[in-house]
Amino acid sequence: MDGFERAAIVGAGTMGRGIARLLAGQGVAVSLCDRDEALAEAGRATLAEDVRSAVRRGELPADEAARMLARVRSAADLAAAVDGAELVVEAIPEVLEAKREVWQRLAGCAGGEAVLTTKTGAGVYQWPAEAARAALSQRDERLRSREAAD
Ligand SMILES: NC(=O)c1ccc[n+]([C@@H]2O[C@H](COP(=O)([O-])OP(=O)(O)OC[C@H]3O[C@@H](n4cnc5c(N)ncnc54)[C@H](O)[C@@H]3O)[C@@H](O)[C@H]2O)c1
Repeated sequence: MDGFERAAIVGAGTMGRGIARLLAGQGVAVSLCDRDEALAEAGRATLAEDVRSAVRRGELPADEAARMLARVRSAADLAAAVDGAELVVEAIPEVLEAKREVWQRLAGCAGGEAVLTTKTGAGVYQWPAEAARAALSQRDERLRSREAAD
């Protein structure tokens, strides 16, 4: 994907895996993050099985699949997953409190130049937008304070 070398996906479910696969297929190194290591690894394993199925069906060359899968790693630690990521995609379920918590944490640990995005369902854009706006204004404050201190 043009301009991105490293990405973090928060939520290794249906959407997170699909986005991880798309990005890895474009040459992006992806950290696939979930609430704990077992869930993150289960997401990575399911993605790997989907890709292997595509190879068996003749939809994807095996060498390309291997290169794609080598770019995806599982991660349980959000801060470690987003460290160095130029693109962060939040893809967790539509639970406002969970969205708020994740966005608060992203605001604290994602790089100042990182592009932060949310994958959300129709009709609930306002929830993550609200959580993201609140968290990002805190991040802007953090960045301004850091610049002022430098
Ligand atoms: N599945 C669809 O067809 C579809 C379509 C459009 C939009 N969406 C939206 O995409 C988002 C994700 O949906 P999905 O279908 O992939 O959900 P999913 O239930 O398949 O996966 C969500 C994943 O997020 C993880 N998660 C939950 N809380 C977390 C946290 N605090 N930190 C890290 N990971 C956490 C869960 O363990 C799970 O693996 C939702 O907002 C949904 O509305 C889904």
